[in-house]
Amino acid sequence: MKTIYSAIQPSGIMTLGNYIGAVNNWQSMQANADNKCIFALADLHTITVRQKPEDLFNNSMSFYALLMAVGLDVKKSVIYMQSHVRQHSELAWLLNCYTYVGEMSRMTQFKDKSAKHSDNINMGLMDYPVLMAADILLYDADLVPVGYDQLQHIEITRDIALRVNNIYGDIFKVPEGFIPKVGAKIMSLQDPESKMSKSDPNPNAVISCLDAPEVIMKKFKRAVTDSDTVIAYDPENKAGISNLLRILAVAENKSVEQAEKECSGLRYGDLKVRVGESVVEMLRPFRSEYDRLIADKAYLLKCAKEGAEKASEIAEKTLKRFRDAIGFVPRQG
Ligand code: TYM
Repeated sequence: MKTIYSAIQPSGIMTLGNYIGAVNNWQSMQANADNKCIFALADLHTITVRQKPEDLFNNSMSFYALLMAVGLDVKKSVIYMQSHVRQHSELAWLLNCYTYVGEMSRMTQFKDKSAKHSDNINMGLMDYPVLMAADILLYDADLVPVGYDQLQHIEITRDIALRVNNIYGDIFKVPEGFIPKVGAKIMSLQDPESKMSKSDPNPNAVISCLDAPEVIMKKFKRAVTDSDTVIAYDPENKAGISNLLRILAVAENKSVEQAEKECSGLRYGDLKVRVGESVVEMLRPFRSEYDRLIADKAYLLKCAKEGAEKASEIAEKTLKRFRDAIGFVPRQG
């Protein structure tokens, strides 16, 4: 039995990049009965950037409903909100004392985010990967399915786990990252050299998993490509077309080579329509299921509560193992 762990920040919208790069794989891993799957909304991570309280609340409810709408099932997987399980914050503190300032300040995402939010370079922004390490290590995860941008954080999680194990013996399982063969980095539709990101201020650059079909079609029709006319998979020289081919491959459940072959005779405009239509079909069932779930807040909260209870039970065992190894006097009773 393998333990699968991953999480997503409930900020802004769930993008097509999040879905293709991560959540889609969570679903296929859940389908394998040999996996024990645990998925979290990383709400504690979101406050490294200032959040309006009502936005954080609404986004958390919305992402929870959406995870279920895309096919994650509370009967098969543990699905919970990170802030409901106190062990995450506690382990993050402990791990802080086994992590060096130098290694945190070298993290790519920290450098990018501190450039973007230069008015609010808070300790949390720098400490973000340690909280992520705590998330993963609490559950003895074997595999962590993520997009390409999170691999560096999984590397540091492994480093921290090995460092602790070297001092105290076998405390943590050392996890492996898992990125999909196709779609580990879906690019912006307006700037195919940069990642599709939920914080992109240009709405045409990003597809939301809840966009209406006509909005999806409009965004794909406007996708930036190049001034050539040949459809070929060539990420170096044809970033826009290659991005569209990757999205098409996932939406139609085929290889990039097959997608490229089928589309090689099309005009750019026709390719954009084909990709748009396939993405509309892939996302279509999510919208109605989401509308149904988000209308029943009491049910969502009940599922989140049960998820947190199951998660805490596992997390507490790992945390206790580490606390005892460090030498803290065990809590009595
Ligand atoms: P987040 O919320 O930014 O993204 C969630 C997942 O989506 C993937 N992703 C993408 N994949 C392909 N193309 C894209 N354009 C794209 N954009 C995002 C991300 O790689 C990620 O897998 N720190 C994490 C959340 C987190 C976490 C964890 C993940 C917190 N604790 C523990 C794994 C394990 C984050 O901010 O992801």
